[in-house]
Formats: sequence, structure tokens, C-alpha cells
Amino acid sequence: MPTISIGDIDLHYVDRGSGPVLLLVHGFPLDHTMWKYQLDGLADVARMIAPDLRGFGRSGVTPGTVSMERYADDLAALLDALKITEKVVFCGLSMGGYVAWQFWRKHSSRVAKLIVCDTRGAPDTPEAAKTRLATAERVEKTGARALAELMMGKLFAPATAQKRPKDVEAMRQVILSCPPKGAAAALRGMAERPDATPLLSSITVPTEVIVGEHDAISPPAEMRGIADAISQARFVEIMGAGHMAPLERPDEVNAVIRALLGR
Ligand code: MLT
Repeated sequence: MPTISIGDIDLHYVDRGSGPVLLLVHGFPLDHTMWKYQLDGLADVARMIAPDLRGFGRSGVTPGTVSMERYADDLAALLDALKITEKVVFCGLSMGGYVAWQFWRKHSSRVAKLIVCDTRGAPDTPEAAKTRLATAERVEKTGARALAELMMGKLFAPATAQKRPKDVEAMRQVILSCPPKGAAAALRGMAERPDATPLLSSITVPTEVIVGEHDAISPPAEMRGIADAISQARFVEIMGAGHMAPLERPDEVNAVIRALLGR
């Protein structure tokens, strides 16, 4: 997996397949490996760029706070570094969706189509933001184990643990090896992220809004509201999946992505 400098930091990324560029942006506190079934299953229809965001996986870490805007700017810089000038299909899950809104706000001329999976438009409530900041402190002090305790119960539909134990365990290992300072910086960035709902009506590109039926973090009803606010959006509920729909039900999600690429 190559590394590329985007100025102040090095980003690790996977570059696989050929066709229109599909930028796969992972959720918190994960890395590019959450897209394994897309990387394996869509190489015949897309050139997939799947980075580890700043502070995650094997990319460089920035302590303090990293805003969603900063991640979005990093992705634009990554495309520049890779000399990708064509418009891309931006696909973000959860925190990757928060980044998608900022990428649209700042770099919409680079977006051909959009896929948002299991994400939210609304910002944190003051209470949720306070809890995130406390979690950031805890993770910095005690390490990533605290994150695994916090996240593992929320990521998957109940049946996924039985059906896909290896994938669930792989994500647990990714979380356990997440750099604590990188995760804490993202938590602070998410706590201060702006309300994206006013942006939604400005999104004019073909969009897929994908959510797992049992997503407890970004529930289907909320995601339906996102789809209703985007003029060219289609809403797809993935039955049997939780918050990690692309990993839990890859065939269904890949079929939606294939359809969007042909749309
Ligand atoms: C994610 O999956 O990226 C996180 O659950 C997002 C969040 O904590 O809001």
C-alpha cells in the first residue's frame, strides 16, 4: 500500500481497479480496510482510491483537533498529488459522510456523484459534543481499548457477529491499533462539526443515500430525511445490516454502487 505526501503529512492509500474514480472514505475510528469488499468487488468498474485519513491506519497523525473540513481538504490534496483531475464519485461512511458534506462545500467542482452511507447531516447536540470531548481525553490517557469498548457494540447488526465473525474481529483489531492521538483529534473535530443540513439542497449530483436497517448511530428515518433534501438522491435501506452496511451486506451495497456508476 503506497504512501504519498500531501504537504504536512503522509497519507497511506489503496489505488485499485480501472474506470471512473471512486473515492472511498472510511468511518471512525477505522481505516481503508472497512472497504475490503468494495475493493475486491468493484475493480472491474472503478478506479478506487481508499485512503487512511490523517490520524488513522498507517497515515501520519496530527494531535489536537482535526476538523471535517481539514479531512476534506486532505482528500482534495490527495487527488492533486495523484494527478487526478477528473470529477470523482465520492463515497463516505459515517464520519466519511461528515467529510463528504465538507468536500461538497469546498470542492464541489471535483464531485461527479455522491454516495453517503450510514451518516448524519445534523451536528452533535451539546451533550453529545461534551461526551465526545471527554472520550477524546480518555482515549489519549488510556489508549484505543476505550474506543473498542465504546464502538464495537454500535457498529454491527446483531446477526452480523454470527454471520461474519472474521469481519467483526478485523474491525475490532483496526480500532485497537488506531493511534489514540489521531482518534482523539477526530473526536474533537466531530464534536465541533457544523450542521450540514442547510447544505443538502445545494447538492445537485446523482446521489445514493445508503443505510443499514438496524443502524443505531444514523437510523434509517434520519437518513431518509437526508435523501428527501437532495434533489437527485435515491434512498436505499439495506436489510439486515447495521452501521457498517458496506462490510455487512457487500453484495447489496456493491449493486447500488454499480447502479450509480451507470446512472
Ligand atoms: C463513525 O462510524 O464514523 C462514527 O460512528 C461517527 C460518529 O461517531 O458520529
